[in-house]
Amino acid sequence: MTPSPTQTEERTAPPAGPGAAGPAADSAADSAAAEGTPPEESTATQPAEEQEPVQDAVFDLQDVSVRYGSFIAVGDITMKVPRHQVTAFIGPSGCGKSTLLRCLNRMNDLVPGASVTGELIYNGENVYAPDVDPAEVRRRIGMVFQKPNPFPKSIYENVAFGPRLNGFSGDLDGLVQQSLERVGLWSEVKDKLKESGHALSGGQQQRLCIARAIAVEPDVLLMDEPCSALDPIATLKIEDLIHQLKSTYSIVIVTHNMQQAARVSDRTAFFSVNIDDHQGMRTGRLVEYDRTTKIFNNPAQQRTEDYVTGRFG
Ligand SMILES: Nc1ncnc2c1ncn2[C@@H]1O[C@H](COP(=O)(O)OP(=O)(O)OP(=O)(O)O)[C@@H](O)[C@H]1O
Ligand SMILES: [Mg+2]
Repeated sequence: MTPSPTQTEERTAPPAGPGAAGPAADSAADSAAAEGTPPEESTATQPAEEQEPVQDAVFDLQDVSVRYGSFIAVGDITMKVPRHQVTAFIGPSGCGKSTLLRCLNRMNDLVPGASVTGELIYNGENVYAPDVDPAEVRRRIGMVFQKPNPFPKSIYENVAFGPRLNGFSGDLDGLVQQSLERVGLWSEVKDKLKESGHALSGGQQQRLCIARAIAVEPDVLLMDEPCSALDPIATLKIEDLIHQLKSTYSIVIVTHNMQQAARVSDRTAFFSVNIDDHQGMRTGRLVEYDRTTKIFNNPAQQRTEDYVTGRFG
């Protein structure tokens, strides 16, 4: 792909120490965001580069752009997402992480005015081909949201709902138990399966939602800031779970937490916002995508380094 022609003001950044991502870096990035420091104004646009090729890709994106009406929320994304690994999407608020994540399983179809261009290949198939059933895409590519959202049903029914809808004719009790075991929730809920999913703690609800997502035996799990509403202990449980699940699933996780990206992911994609010269349109771009250790310890782009070390860029 060709680099974006967008050009923004160059700023002299202080020398950055690699590998400095941590709580301070996190909070610095967050407070910079809160203070409205415009990351897109700090450096010239760099071409998005994939430094180390992905050998076995579950998704292959070629020049994917997502629009809301005529607004290009995220543009010209070319990347391969590896199978049975964890890929993190990071970047400042509004750079299109959720938008891009939702386009991977056609969730954006449900947003009025949203449209996708470019090619999104999932296991060799174009996800947006006319003969593809979006419901089937969403069954194979499950999603977990920022805020735990159990159905207003019992714990059991939350997990059984999807398989039943898909006509599952096997041992439903066994499947419910197995799904709850996989997320480490079974021992906590086995005596109250008939109670409402809403009666669980936030961390338990999020694990219930993950159990619900895996009960339909998907291939990929998309997670949009799955821990942002959780306390540190519940967060660690979800992170442990992500580690276990990646032997079976390909996982893409959006997170604002640099430590979390560094802990759970194998690859990290850093996105930022560019401002179009002519119309002032703020479009999300992929700045750098590589192995997570490289992104956090020795990124190729100054802009990435500024972001992961809390300086922004
Ligand atoms: N339904 C929508 N209709 C119109 N514009 C939208 C819609 N959803 C998102 N946008 C816009 O698209 C851009 C990208 O939004 P998106 O939610 O994908 O960003 P994000 O990187 O996930 O941000 P955050 O970190 O705050 O969650 C933003 O400019 C946002 O205002
Ligand atoms: Mg988002």
